[in-house]
Amino acid sequence: MNIQFVDLHKQYEPLKEEILSGIEKVLDGMHLFLGENVQALEKEFAQFCGATHGIGVSDGTASLNIILRAMGIGPGDEVITVSHTFIATAEAILLTGAKPVFVDIDPITYLMDVSQVEKKITAHTKAILHVHLYGQTVDMDPLLDIAKRHGLRVVEDACQAHGAEYKGRKAGAIGDAGGFSFYYSKNLGGYGEGGFITTNDSELADKIRKIRDHGSGIRYHHDLVGFNGRLEEIQAVVLRAKLPHLAEWNARRREHARLYSELLRGTPAITPGESSGNVPVYHLYVIRVPKRDELQAFLKERGIFTGIHYPIPIHLQRAVDFLGYKKGVMPVTENVVSQILSLPMYAEICDEEIKHVADSIKAFFELS
Ligand SMILES: Cc1ncc(COP(=O)(O)O)c(C=O)c1O
Repeated sequence: MNIQFVDLHKQYEPLKEEILSGIEKVLDGMHLFLGENVQALEKEFAQFCGATHGIGVSDGTASLNIILRAMGIGPGDEVITVSHTFIATAEAILLTGAKPVFVDIDPITYLMDVSQVEKKITAHTKAILHVHLYGQTVDMDPLLDIAKRHGLRVVEDACQAHGAEYKGRKAGAIGDAGGFSFYYSKNLGGYGEGGFITTNDSELADKIRKIRDHGSGIRYHHDLVGFNGRLEEIQAVVLRAKLPHLAEWNARRREHARLYSELLRGTPAITPGESSGNVPVYHLYVIRVPKRDELQAFLKERGIFTGIHYPIPIHLQRAVDFLGYKKGVMPVTENVVSQILSLPMYAEICDEEIKHVADSIKAFFELS
């Protein structure tokens, strides 16, 4: 039995007609950017997240960068974030000219260790950009409290957390603003690039709208220095066709996670820890195991494809050598990344496939 890490065909088939007829309409009208589909998606996805404002953008990296720029963050400023994330989180900060300052992660949730944030705050700190990694939300209440006491903005990297909840509030609508990616394999993904920004701050929303379209509200009138961060109509058609199914797909992912955790109980694999009050959406289902690389190779031989998200923490990437971080400064992050393995996870994966993955993991431990 071959099991892909993500299989998008199964999701496409039932939506194919709706998506293709929507794309045909766009092409017949030739209104390709920021048209009626983007405007409708902006209302629909903002409402889904419980946010007042929604702004469609070109991708997740741009979403975070635009938020920071709209907050006035730039050279000389520091933004506190994590090193255990996709590089884009740090790029979004670096591209403003500001400096990312990394904090270690919690060993159970693999998310920002909020208890370590305060000691990283300096006179230059302007914001905290945390990441709801793998579809689990960060412990927001203490983080918001720290931000309030120090006058910092809070930006949510919700690129892996469409619909994830923290104490009844959805990711993207808890901090000052949230950035989403609609990369094709996300819980809500387009068929190309796409991104989204949510905020409840009207003034910030106005600036964000302008920055994503060359700093203009009226064509060829540029009030701010922006860039081309627009979302395409064709992607908005795909995303609007998928959005009504997102809550059900997320619920299925939670069921799959429950089954994986139940089947792996009693093995050396450490299954994901959930914090109370948190409704995760399992963009990724990540276990921690000894001999991770051997297990990954063993599963591949059996036709099971897995991933590592992410094998090298950002503070040890060559691209950011100039920040001066050394091995050993982020002990939890460095230990976790050597053991994590992401198992096949998507809404349409079936119980038989999950059982086959779990049986294969058990077989590996029995042999080793
Ligand atoms: C945590 C995180 N942040 C940011 C991004 C960047 O999103 P995009 O690839 O759409 O630019 C991603 C996407 O992979 C992500 O997973």
